[in-house]
Amino acid sequence: MGGTLTIDRKQFIQTAEAAAGGNDVIAVVKNNAYNFGLEFSVRAFLEAGIHSFATTSMDEALEIRRISQEAMIFLMNPTYDLETVRENGFHITLPSLEYYHEYREALSGISVHLEYAGLFNRSGFGTSDEMIEVINDVHALPRNARMDVAGIWTHFGYADELDMEEYEVERELWRSLLSDVLATGHAFDYIHSQNSASFARDGLFNGHTHLRLGIALYGSRPYASLPAENYMQSLTLKAPIVQLRRLSANQKCGYGGSYQPENDAKIAVVDIGYGDGILRKRADFDCMINGKRYAIKALMMSHMIVEVDEDVTLDDEVIMYSNDLRIDDYTALGAGANSEQLGALNYNSLKKVILNDTSVYQ
Ligand SMILES: Cc1ncc(COP(=O)(O)O)c(C=O)c1O
Repeated sequence: MGGTLTIDRKQFIQTAEAAAGGNDVIAVVKNNAYNFGLEFSVRAFLEAGIHSFATTSMDEALEIRRISQEAMIFLMNPTYDLETVRENGFHITLPSLEYYHEYREALSGISVHLEYAGLFNRSGFGTSDEMIEVINDVHALPRNARMDVAGIWTHFGYADELDMEEYEVERELWRSLLSDVLATGHAFDYIHSQNSASFARDGLFNGHTHLRLGIALYGSRPYASLPAENYMQSLTLKAPIVQLRRLSANQKCGYGGSYQPENDAKIAVVDIGYGDGILRKRADFDCMINGKRYAIKALMMSHMIVEVDEDVTLDDEVIMYSNDLRIDDYTALGAGANSEQLGALNYNSLKKVILNDTSVYQ
């Protein structure tokens, strides 16, 4: 059994509150809530005062509805099972004019958010004219045949890229499209575009009702120059040492003799590996034992070799992630995106412990 993943629920809630900064937030909870656990995260976010959720998966949307009858649940992927959408009161993206024409009748009574493709261009309308065509068409229908055009949104593809200029371009394209569409007089309950990086860069945009945050809610900085104390990580990952060994300078260890110490060395064999979700690139950097950093020398499926010193004993814990070994610091060092490091963690092999769990649902 590889390591233990600990999530401090109280810290998780405080981090989410701090990330929201008093604004209305749609929490992005796709991919099992960035792998923190969908039910855990949704319940914690509700306690943090967040009542709107976005995912790409119908199964996740149904799970959120089971947890909360009142929550606004937004499906960000184009959705074709409109009966389930209607039964559960989900909001869905309206991804294109073609989609609208194809499902015009079937969409009656359903809440949609018009999606602008922008420079990200994964999905969405290309122009304000197309959106205005839809709005005018809907208003011309009898009330009982109309869909509810509840929202308008986009996603920025460059907000996290501080050294690229495209963010300014996509932001201005969106602002201009929004002002054209708002000029129709149509009132939207949900106007949302900003992910964690965009919010950190610009604050909440004028006229926007909600932020649509992911990674900041989970305690990682979207980019490294932000102050770490504003994004406290609630997650710790640690593993036990299974053996301490001594190697002489001419000895090799690991598959294919992957590690050979320069001098005689003491090594710790640690009970965690890539099978538990430690990315190879993460293993290029240190772990921590008793507050001191030690180099990882080899990573295997269920073990890791760490070069240690005489201070380390068999009872010590090896820390892979904590507020001293932050996921976002390793992102900055090139270990992989925050969500990549989180998404890799293997809940089938890691023991999961929730600290400070005062929730009533347990
Ligand atoms: C459409 C959409 N909106 C918002 C987010 C949240 O982004 P972040 O985690 O950078 O806050 C994501 C994340 O991938 C997304 O795909």
